[in-house]
Amino acid sequence: MRAARLPTTKDLDEIATYPIEESKTMTESISNPLPAAQPPSVAMPLVRVRLPSRNRPKGRQPDAAALAEVRALIGVVPYPRDLLIEYLHQINDRYRALFERHLVALAHEMRLPVAEVFEVASFYHHFEVLPDDAQAKALTVRVCDGLSCRMAGAKDLQQHLSVSLGGRDVKLITTPCVGRCEQAPVAVVHQQPVAQATPEAVVSKVNQALALMDKAQAAPENESIELAKNHQSEAVDALTPSTPASNASYFYTSNQPVALDTPAQAAIKNGVRLDLPGAITGAAQAQTTTPEFIDLASYRAEGGYALAIAVAAGKTSAESVLTALENAGLRGLGGAGFPVGRKWRMVRSQPAPRLMAVNIDEGEPGTFKDRTYLERDPHRFLEGLLVAAQVVGVDTCYIYLRDEYHGCRALLQQQIAALQANPPCPLPRLELRRGAGAYICGEESAMVESLEGKRGEPRLRPPYIAELGLFGRPTLEHNFETLFWVRDIVQRGADWFASFGRHGRHGLRSFSVSGRVREPGVKLAPAGITVRELIDEFCGGMAPGHTLYAYLPGGASGGIFPASLADVPLDFDTLQPHGGFIGSAAVMVMSQHDKARDAALAMMQFFAHESCGQCTPCRVGTAKAAALMAAPNWDIATLTDLAETMAQASICGLGQAAPNPLLSVLRYFPQEFTGGL
Ligand SMILES: Cc1cc2nc3c(=O)[nH]c(=O)nc-3n(C[C@H](O)[C@H](O)[C@H](O)COP(=O)(O)O)c2cc1C
Ligand code: SF4
Ligand code: FES
Repeated sequence: MRAARLPTTKDLDEIATYPIEESKTMTESISNPLPAAQPPSVAMPLVRVRLPSRNRPKGRQPDAAALAEVRALIGVVPYPRDLLIEYLHQINDRYRALFERHLVALAHEMRLPVAEVFEVASFYHHFEVLPDDAQAKALTVRVCDGLSCRMAGAKDLQQHLSVSLGGRDVKLITTPCVGRCEQAPVAVVHQQPVAQATPEAVVSKVNQALALMDKAQAAPENESIELAKNHQSEAVDALTPSTPASNASYFYTSNQPVALDTPAQAAIKNGVRLDLPGAITGAAQAQTTTPEFIDLASYRAEGGYALAIAVAAGKTSAESVLTALENAGLRGLGGAGFPVGRKWRMVRSQPAPRLMAVNIDEGEPGTFKDRTYLERDPHRFLEGLLVAAQVVGVDTCYIYLRDEYHGCRALLQQQIAALQANPPCPLPRLELRRGAGAYICGEESAMVESLEGKRGEPRLRPPYIAELGLFGRPTLEHNFETLFWVRDIVQRGADWFASFGRHGRHGLRSFSVSGRVREPGVKLAPAGITVRELIDEFCGGMAPGHTLYAYLPGGASGGIFPASLADVPLDFDTLQPHGGFIGSAAVMVMSQHDKARDAALAMMQFFAHESCGQCTPCRVGTAKAAALMAAPNWDIATLTDLAETMAQASICGLGQAAPNPLLSVLRYFPQEFTGGL
């Protein structure tokens, strides 16, 4: 008897064309049933019927329970592709992790390849993908490991917590700067920040949360699932920052924006300390996680939205707004400092439809100005956004908010709803989106990718996003604070803004000051102020027992300067000759108790952690440099070589700026790595 012939590829191809009932995809069988399949017209050998077919669904199929759970969270079709990250958040919030079964179900619902959903989910630090049989911890506690928190004792805090939370149902992790450096050290229990955190305060918050969760689990058996879920949400709510009460008079004394009128204006020009916001001192900024804010009614009562109304009605022309921004010399305040008026003209000259993307990712270590303004005066920003939308001709605005800013999200949701319910003028479509813990998504083209629901990998340019941005449309992208100043500049006049400044510079800058100063916080100060002036006049001097040793003028990317450069004017373009830049004006102050090489190592580790991995000079360079910098003796030749390669050959600003702290140490702190330690 002849042995049975093994099927060839050709056989398999033939078989694949047979419409076999069991080969229907899950998609078809659940939501798009096809007519019953016809049996093969010719008799088939049994072996053929059993063979895999092309029509058979590939990969893992969703199970009914997971599908039901996902649908219960995100509703039913349609599921726009760009909302993938929002859906992942919903699942992650509910189940404390992303279980594989849910990702498979989500992929099915969104008609996406499972691999695509996995690759997006695994890109973002705030998502943890777990196998189905794993157990997610009840609670996550994050201890900030950023430079200012380290200076304030974050390592000790972390060690204490690892002991006191050991054995509890808690995941304790360190995390890069969470944008609250004036409150250092900071811990975040689920979504609730703990300012000036002590082990006791964190443990108390954890106990509170776990007790509520126990209550949820101990719900009587006859208690309905809904009721049990309520207990669960109660526990989550207790850890989710609520929207603070509003009180218009708290932020700006005498209801005047930023209190820059006389005598405060005179004060700032004369170099007298001016706290921002008016009534909140540096010490208060450091303590409060839910400051009072100006709500819509109060904002309108003090003349708010008059500019937006005037522009919408054509009483204030687009040209006059553009001219005011240009004459004021307003530059983008997210880091790159591109002239604002010029950007608006570029985008408005592009064909419609145009889009806007607002960057509130605020991931640059040491930066917290956007949060500080947002949580106190959200409508000043929203008015700037409306004016920009009208002048540039934008009908949809996406607001990309850092995930760590849970309180701001609640506030923005509430205030946008209030604005939509009572619009002062026609509004563009507003979409609030949530980042997911990836620093690179602050880079504008990576943010655009993330807004499209993808991995936040920067795009190669050109084309620039002003021409080809979000969803392929011309996109106006701005930092939060840039829009925050639009109203005041147009209403008060370009000269008002440009009249501030020191040492030949013009304008106002919001410095996020943290580290070894007496009163850390956001300091609204004249452009061109020196760090010595900033510390002495705005921060109450150095913290007791500390003298200035070094400072970072522009977050992680802007280099590290020695005290001997304390009299350099801080502004765009003034620091480049010294190997640094102001970036987002995040000033971290170090004292004789700190080492520049430790700071540089922390920054390089941060960049290695945050590199999107797309290009080799950055992916390999940051990791390798961090390893070399951790050694007691630095291999200076290799480090210099790596620094040059990263700076010259990386695709985006992360890799290009990553060597800056390292190069600063090599240039200004030789005593720290040439046997002086
Ligand atoms: C790695 C990296 C991270 C960035 N992070 C932010 C950020 O968190 N917020 C921000 O506004 N800009 C950030 N930027 C700058 C943006 O790419 C962009 O220049 C800016 O948002 C433009 O807005 P502006 O003109 O109003 O400053 C980052 C840039 C890079 C290279
Ligand atoms: S430089 Fe780094 S972060 Fe930027 S694209 Fe390359 S790998 Fe990604
Ligand atoms: S919040 Fe910890 S360093 Fe910024």
